[in-house]
Amino acid sequence: MSKNRGEWGSRIGFIMAAIGSAIGLGNIWRFPYTVASNGGGAFLIPYLVALLTAGIPILILEFGLGHKIRNSAPGVFGSLNKKWQVFGWWQAAISFVITTYYVVVIAWAMSYFLFSFNLGWGSDPKGFLFGDFLKLTDSPMSLGGLNFKVAIPLSIVWAVNYIVPVLGVKNGIEKANKILMPMLVVSLLIMVVRGLTLPGAIDGLDYYFKPDFSKLADGRVWLAAYGQVFYSLSIAFGIMLAYSSYLPKESDIVNNAFITGFGNCSFSLLSGIAVFSILGYMAKSQGVPVQEVASAGVGLAFIVFPKAINALPGMNSLFAVMFFGSLVFAGISSSISLVETFSSSIADRFNMSRIKALSISCGIGYLVSMIFATGAGLYILDIVDHYINNYGVALAGLIEIVMLAWFFNLESIRSYVNPLSDFQVGKWWNICLKYITPALLGIMTILNIRTDLKIPYEGYSIEAIAKYGGFFVLGSFVIAVIMLKVESTYHSISSKVKEVM
Ligand code: PHE
Repeated sequence: MSKNRGEWGSRIGFIMAAIGSAIGLGNIWRFPYTVASNGGGAFLIPYLVALLTAGIPILILEFGLGHKIRNSAPGVFGSLNKKWQVFGWWQAAISFVITTYYVVVIAWAMSYFLFSFNLGWGSDPKGFLFGDFLKLTDSPMSLGGLNFKVAIPLSIVWAVNYIVPVLGVKNGIEKANKILMPMLVVSLLIMVVRGLTLPGAIDGLDYYFKPDFSKLADGRVWLAAYGQVFYSLSIAFGIMLAYSSYLPKESDIVNNAFITGFGNCSFSLLSGIAVFSILGYMAKSQGVPVQEVASAGVGLAFIVFPKAINALPGMNSLFAVMFFGSLVFAGISSSISLVETFSSSIADRFNMSRIKALSISCGIGYLVSMIFATGAGLYILDIVDHYINNYGVALAGLIEIVMLAWFFNLESIRSYVNPLSDFQVGKWWNICLKYITPALLGIMTILNIRTDLKIPYEGYSIEAIAKYGGFFVLGSFVIAVIMLKVESTYHSISSKVKEVM
């Protein structure tokens, strides 16, 4: 185990980094639409239940384990049970796969940040995105060559993701988050104020919040809430294990978990207000219902928002800069946490310096991510994102919870975190982790498999799904097994070398 693993300089530094990882693209482009399409204001009930029964309990569990064992995912799981080590590597591998495309979206946002100054997307944002900018081919199977308009900003994003962790936990990651998070919050507040003062904002908010309590009887709404909480809090990826392993010995665990959980949730709610007040304005100016302009993901950020920005009555560029700047800040603070997760796994398990582990892993990641900078990049990204989220993340979450709650003494973590914390966790914590969360994640996984078997995702060809979805999801298993093998060879060689010396 490497001795010099680094440590956070302050409690607030750790909290900012953990919230920085949690607040990402998902809060801005996924949460608002998920709320609106799952019962509006009524969705907040399942969301809060999911946060309290799964999100925060798992945060407490991961913060506690990372702090106690002071290692990254493979080391943490390996020290609980030698056979579980491969699972830790799998989490690191999933983080690696997610990074390779997550950074691509940040690169798009970075380009749009520059286009913001003269509204460079013109009067047809859709044509601009697919044609001029992404040079989208007509199928995921035809790559169409490297697109430098994406490859260049992508190189810059990778450089930032490499340099910040190289500077260290305290001088790099903590400092970057202490700058990025306040900037993000200020831009969001400005957007909220601007949004709310536009005509039509109220219709947008009405669509966003208007409670439809009948939706609470629909199981899918509850699953959407659990899915959103898992993705949004960056849990079950090994990220929070790595981050909490840098906490000083005397650190409050339970409070930190509540602050991270509620901080992330408040940010999501506010960004929904910003998004829907602007959409309300746009719908009003076009004379259509809000429902018609509401969307999520790439379409919301790179088509609907540019359109809405074009339609603003004034200071369009300023607003555009705020919006795309927020996507970049939110994205970078999350991607740094992903990079830290797999590179710290390598550094910890191979006794390697941070810089060497980062150089190797970022170098490979950079090359792999170039596939998303081709003319088929958007399609491939969409496929990989869908499959890795449904089968990597949900399954990893389920396995993690079942292993820790059923085959490990959960009570030992509760009695470890309680003396460290102001606020004590009660038996409710064990019940949530043992019964409620695994049951819901299990149902979620089965339903996902059922839907995907019935209809291929988004109508992509089976060939494309097998090639990209299969390649990256199976790739994450293969990487995990290879890393485990390489590691055991490494340890047996280094112990032989020690014997000889
Ligand atoms: N929590 C991030 C978001 O909401 C997504 C993310 C997942 C980031 C996993 C890092 C790791 O966008």
